[in-house]
Amino acid sequence: MASTSEQTTCETMNSEKYADVNWDELGFSPIPTDYMFVMKCSEGENFLQGNLTPFGNIELSPSATILNTGQGIFEGLKAYRREDDRITLFRPEQNAIRMKMGAERMCMPSPSTEQFVDAVKQTVLANKRWVPPPGKGSLYVRPLLMGSGSAIGVVPAPEYTFLIYTSPVGNYYKGDTSLNVIVEEKFRRAIPSGAGGVKAITNYAPIFQAVTQAKTKGFSDVLFLDAKTGRNVEELSLCNIFIVKGNVISTPAMLGTILPGVTRKSIIDIALDSCYQVEERVIPVEDLMDADEVFCTGTAVVVNSVGSITYQGKRVEYKTGVESVSQKLYATLTGIQMGRIEDKMGWTVEV
Ligand code: COI
Repeated sequence: MASTSEQTTCETMNSEKYADVNWDELGFSPIPTDYMFVMKCSEGENFLQGNLTPFGNIELSPSATILNTGQGIFEGLKAYRREDDRITLFRPEQNAIRMKMGAERMCMPSPSTEQFVDAVKQTVLANKRWVPPPGKGSLYVRPLLMGSGSAIGVVPAPEYTFLIYTSPVGNYYKGDTSLNVIVEEKFRRAIPSGAGGVKAITNYAPIFQAVTQAKTKGFSDVLFLDAKTGRNVEELSLCNIFIVKGNVISTPAMLGTILPGVTRKSIIDIALDSCYQVEERVIPVEDLMDADEVFCTGTAVVVNSVGSITYQGKRVEYKTGVESVSQKLYATLTGIQMGRIEDKMGWTVEV
């Protein structure tokens, strides 16, 4: 547990309603908050008890497996401040379940769903003053699970650390309400039977080059194709993709190379409830180029319209704006998250 003086500081800090942040300028860069949560366990054992501790650097051996073989996964979820000042999470148990799946794939122990959700709640409460005012953003919660013990060979670590830190954020693609996306033709994100379907830390740095090159050319992001055929749509650098044709909304099926997004899953349910036909299927790039509308979903991006896709030098534009399907789905999702729309599914959890 935090020491008495730390607890006093925590109480004092939490008595101020808001931290000193320019809430109108929030982007998606880390802003250090007051506390983080840390829990450790040895290989072959279960996580037992974690603590809140002041946010700061952590100590790791240079031979920790997270630094050497990339034995690590992460999650992302958000805490929202409602108009009545209540703070809620959105489907945090789904992140716990996904972390458990990823941990199994990466040979790591994982916290139970209860431990995960409880730790997220504790961390959000300790950092309450960093949860932006309603309509100004959210508190992004980043749980990490890593091999913190030493190994020099290709073996799992003898010790693991589960850590949660937070940062107030605005929308990921700040000001970019209609993304200008290029289909990546050289690099692939995930291979069949690889780790593309879990949130492995090692899935992200290998795509930096493609994203950086695309941004240099003025694109907002890249869309990856499947590694086996190079013909089918998979996902963007950090979010899932949907296409709309008439009343049918399609998204790539999860065949192990696509991240099972919590927002993806929620949008599918909202779309079905709104009388759209939803298909999870293999989507050839030709279907993408022939769509009426394209949008992407993720915790960081929420639901973001795609205004254009460029593939093999050909640029196609899509419907965007308030009458678009994506904007209607966005309004419903954020309405549920912010308590403006009845949460019939029981997705929101108060901290
Ligand atoms: C999220 O949407 O939470 C993600 O994990 C994307 C992140 C890499 C920014």
